[in-house]
Amino acid sequence: MATLSSLLAIGFLTASASAAAPYNQYILAPSSRRLHPVSVHQINGSVVNAASVLGGSTGSAVFNNAAAVTYDFGKNVAGLVTLQIGNVSAGQFIGLTYTESSLWISGEGCDATQDAGIDEALWFQPSGPGNYSVSREHERGGFRYLSLLHNTTGFVNVQGVTVQFTPMPHWRDDQLQAYTGYFHSNDELLNRIWYAGAYTNQICTIDPTRGNSLVHLGVLNSTQLGNVTGPDSWYLNYTIASGSSVLVDGAKRDRLVWPGDMSIAVPSITVSTYDLVTIANSLDSLFALQNKTTGLLPYAGAPFPLQYSPTYHLYNLIGVADYYLYSNDLAYLQGKWSDWKLGLNFSLSFIDSSGLFNATSSADWLRFGMGGHNVEANSILYYTINQGIALGQVLNESSSLLNSWAQRAAGIKASANRLLWNDTAGMYRDNETTTLMPQDGNCWAILANLTANSSQITRISSALAARWGPYGAPAVEAANAVSPFISGFELQAHMLAGNATAALKLMRLEWGFMLDDPRMTNSTFIEGYSSDGSLHYAPYTNDPRVSHAHGWATGPTSTLTFYVGGIHLLSAGGSTWQISPMLGNLTSVDTGFQTTLGSFTSQVNASSGAITGLRFATPSGTTGSVSLPGVSGSLRATNGATVALANGMASNLTGGTWTLQVNGSKTVSNGTSTSSSTTTATPATYTGSAGSVFVSWLTLAAGWVVTFI
Ligand SMILES: *[C@@H]1O[C@H](CO)[C@@H](O)[C@H](O)[C@H]1NC(C)=O
Ligand SMILES: *[C@@H]1O[C@H](CO)[C@@H](O)[C@H](O)[C@H]1NC(C)=O
Ligand SMILES: *[C@@H]1O[C@H](CO)[C@@H](O)[C@H](O)[C@H]1NC(C)=O
Ligand SMILES: *[C@@H]1O[C@H](CO)[C@@H](O)[C@H](O)[C@H]1NC(C)=O
Ligand SMILES: *[C@@H]1O[C@H](CO)[C@@H](O)[C@H](O)[C@H]1NC(C)=O
Ligand SMILES: *[C@@H]1O[C@H](CO)[C@@H](O)[C@H](O)[C@H]1NC(C)=O
Ligand SMILES: *[C@@H]1O[C@H](CO)[C@@H](O)[C@H](O)[C@H]1NC(C)=O
Ligand SMILES: *[C@@H]1O[C@H](CO)[C@@H](O)[C@H](O)[C@H]1NC(C)=O
Ligand SMILES: *[C@@H]1O[C@H](CO)[C@@H](O)[C@H](O)[C@H]1NC(C)=O
Ligand SMILES: *[C@@H]1O[C@H](CO)[C@@H](O)[C@H](O)[C@H]1NC(C)=O
Ligand SMILES: *[C@@H]1O[C@H](CO)[C@@H](O)[C@H](O)[C@H]1NC(C)=O
Ligand SMILES: *[C@@H]1O[C@H](CO)[C@@H](O)[C@H](O)[C@H]1NC(C)=O
Repeated sequence: MATLSSLLAIGFLTASASAAAPYNQYILAPSSRRLHPVSVHQINGSVVNAASVLGGSTGSAVFNNAAAVTYDFGKNVAGLVTLQIGNVSAGQFIGLTYTESSLWISGEGCDATQDAGIDEALWFQPSGPGNYSVSREHERGGFRYLSLLHNTTGFVNVQGVTVQFTPMPHWRDDQLQAYTGYFHSNDELLNRIWYAGAYTNQICTIDPTRGNSLVHLGVLNSTQLGNVTGPDSWYLNYTIASGSSVLVDGAKRDRLVWPGDMSIAVPSITVSTYDLVTIANSLDSLFALQNKTTGLLPYAGAPFPLQYSPTYHLYNLIGVADYYLYSNDLAYLQGKWSDWKLGLNFSLSFIDSSGLFNATSSADWLRFGMGGHNVEANSILYYTINQGIALGQVLNESSSLLNSWAQRAAGIKASANRLLWNDTAGMYRDNETTTLMPQDGNCWAILANLTANSSQITRISSALAARWGPYGAPAVEAANAVSPFISGFELQAHMLAGNATAALKLMRLEWGFMLDDPRMTNSTFIEGYSSDGSLHYAPYTNDPRVSHAHGWATGPTSTLTFYVGGIHLLSAGGSTWQISPMLGNLTSVDTGFQTTLGSFTSQVNASSGAITGLRFATPSGTTGSVSLPGVSGSLRATNGATVALANGMASNLTGGTWTLQVNGSKTVSNGTSTSSSTTTATPATYTGSAGSVFVSWLTLAAGWVVTFI
């Protein structure tokens, strides 16, 4: 059992990244880079003792004549395969195919990285005993299932199957679990979701020389399906960034830097691995592509063809603001500032006489109907301008420039509310020529504070929740696809609307499905699917191409720590902060993370949404406030200082460890009734019991024809 004092000793109060974070048993990253299959998923033909090589044992799996076995790693993994081969008869071949989802297990090829077809199998021609490894460019970025194919008469004896895990290349081989952040609550599903988000971002952190899986981009298309072209060649060898690590959109594909995806992935990295160098390398690779005449920033990193995206252009700028907020690296901000202003100016030039920004390119997160006075683009621009004003104040930028930005922002807000708000529906429409009310723009309007009053926020929140189907929140602007990317913003929108119940309900519904459905990896989050639960993502024609590990789907990880645990960083590194937990129907939450300034932690108990216990810690030298609407009581610091809450608020608190004392509390966290008028409601600490896991087994959609030889 971990007591509070032992937790304080190992992680809460030190900035040491080497201290093990609590709740390690939930971490999905492996403890070593040498991985082995954990079970046999299926066998076709005669493979004797297929299970003998599981778990790293030296075994003897003998393939006789045409036969195949599919091994399951139990979770999504990535890396380089080595087969240890024993005796073979003459003239043998043994091949490999990879897939993230069980839907695409095939004897013909892998799942897909291209717009059409499937990816080719890799073949060895073993002439005798020895280790046979795939070539370096045939690292596979994401797979849960590895099939071994034998297509010849004769036999091959496989004695070992090993994967050298390649993600997080800049971390020590035995330190892949060295998280600086943690989360635990009384809801096991949410605990698993937090750690799956953290792992998804790790598996999307790659060696920059192994980028870009779209090796036939613009050549293969949906008219050329697998049987027309045959399985397609694939390899990973394009250098996409400098440095020794980079964050890409997906583990399997595209393996490119996408600034929009980073807007969800980076906050979740911050609260889990705090892998700042990777974020900086990724942003640098994007700014290196900026057109220094016009200010245009890329839709995606090299070698993706340079094109203008109204929103992703802005996400480059948001990326710098986020990096500065989480890192407190002022020199980095200073180094980017003139390019940043150039980039913002580029966007401001598209504001027309209506006061709104005109989106003149449809490139976005692959939603449809992106153009004109689009509310998502206007919200993101409104947000970016305000980020710029805050950054400009840090840098002593001229007030005339910042005032001019503030005027443009005010114009956007006034015009958007006049032209795009539908007061009957309680939502914004996509633009002024449609009645469609998008998920993305309505979420972003709340995140950006484009809303003019709080009733708009609660109305949007309930209108969005009213749309949910059995598998999550539909994006009406993308043919009702479920977008785990945009839904990540929706989680934040419900929290900002004060409705933690709605945010947690959506997490359990949508991310619970993504974790527990047997077609998924039970470890990483998919990039998109259909609102009927089929694994077809509307923008793509080629279903095996969908990525099952996409950093843009990791929104819950940051939302659970920042909003549910309530640790808000208000300025760089958290030099100012606000603690305002909201637990919905949870009864306990214990979360924390580190920045360059030190550790931020929050332990909370609640009953029916009312906070009954809180202990938090922030680094010394920082200052902040606490907001606990409806709670009356006081905060006591470890040095004895006591501050009374006024209307649930306390401000000008110094960094340190503070404990809430609730006035008139009738119940403390362990359920013991008390009649005293003041109770020190010390939050319960984790006891190490795993609890029961909710697993929903859903009917498999009629799928791919599995052809084994
Ligand atoms: C087995 O597969 C290899 C690699 O594709 C191929 O060269 C060989 O002809 C196949 N052998 C048979 C008997 O199908
Ligand atoms: C919270 O409520 C949801 C229903 O919205 C339920 O499924 C879940 O089990 C509840 N969780 C806890 C910890 O009570
Ligand atoms: C598909 O690609 C082929 C070969 O590059 C090209 O000839 C054809 O026009 C493309 N079809 C479509 C629909 O883009
Ligand atoms: C190729 O065609 C065969 C025979 O029609 C079919 O069974 C198989 O599923 C097809 N494969 C792909 C990848 O489309
Ligand atoms: C990447 O690998 C492919 C296939 O092996 C090869 O044709 C290509 O030249 C390589 N490119 C680079 C940049 O190494
Ligand atoms: C920058 O944009 C201008 C205007 O579109 C164009 O003429 C120029 O070639 C671009 N520069 C680079 C380096 O792409
Ligand atoms: C306005 O929004 C609708 C709905 O998304 C879309 O069909 C239409 O193309 C948009 N208008 C422009 C100019 O993009
Ligand atoms: C946006 O700009 C394009 C290109 O200049 C123009 O055709 C379109 O009418 C503009 N849309 C609006 C809503 O002003
Ligand atoms: C406003 O919303 C109502 C209710 O959903 C709808 O009937 C109406 O068409 C919408 N009007 C516009 C201009 O979008
Ligand atoms: C949101 O905008 C309103 C003005 O419309 C302003 O009063 C309020 O302070 C803003 N909220 C935040 C969090 O910036
Ligand atoms: C919060 O969201 C839940 C779930 O969507 C909903 O039932 C409830 O009415 C909302 N609460 C408020 C105060 O809007
Ligand atoms: C999913 O993974 C968790 C560990 O994260 C494990 O406890 C659970 O049994 C797995 N579920 C299935 C169906 O394999």
